[in-house]
Amino acid sequence: MNRIIQFLSIVLVLSIYACGSSRTKKTVESLKSALNNELTASEKYTKFAQVAMSEGFDTLSQLFSAASKSEKIHATNHERILHKYGGVSDNPEIAPFQVKTTKENLNAAIKSEMFDMQSVYPGFIKIAELETAPDGATAFTWAWSGEIRHLMYYRKADASILAGNESGISYVWYVCPKCGNIYTPNDIKSLCEVCLEKQENFIGFSKEESK
Ligand SMILES: [Fe+2]
Repeated sequence: MNRIIQFLSIVLVLSIYACGSSRTKKTVESLKSALNNELTASEKYTKFAQVAMSEGFDTLSQLFSAASKSEKIHATNHERILHKYGGVSDNPEIAPFQVKTTKENLNAAIKSEMFDMQSVYPGFIKIAELETAPDGATAFTWAWSGEIRHLMYYRKADASILAGNESGISYVWYVCPKCGNIYTPNDIKSLCEVCLEKQENFIGFSKEESK
């Protein structure tokens, strides 16, 4: 009798686990896709930062470096939640991307951020909400908020460069280590406006600090 109860208990636990995995299936697929996208974006912005530095756009290079770190934090968050839902991330893929001149790279970055902001993350958030996967929804929402800020800063940088100087771009950047949101010294808050992380924990980016 005890063995029957033990067997039925195991079946029940496995059923619950299977239902849980199935319940968050589309969220897991979205997390995998988002993980690859964020890793690709991080790698791409690191390359863009190097090109910008070599072309004399030192300030814009700082922004690309901060955005690269931001995307890496998004990827780390996605991976953590992916594992929590039983997903695997053995072979995250870095998609091919082009590295051109700084002005072309900046335009590509703007298009990419706009696509993520308008088309990718709203859909992923919806999927996580429909599957009642709050951790997934939070990870997607944090990343979505981050992409909105990247787009805003890239557009400002584009306007500054078109005007013939980089004075409109901040040289110093701060990255929230928890959600990846980025700030300038002018708009930094005592708590991250997205995840409430304390400012004292933010990662600073300036020429001296990023060496
Ligand atoms: Fe944050």
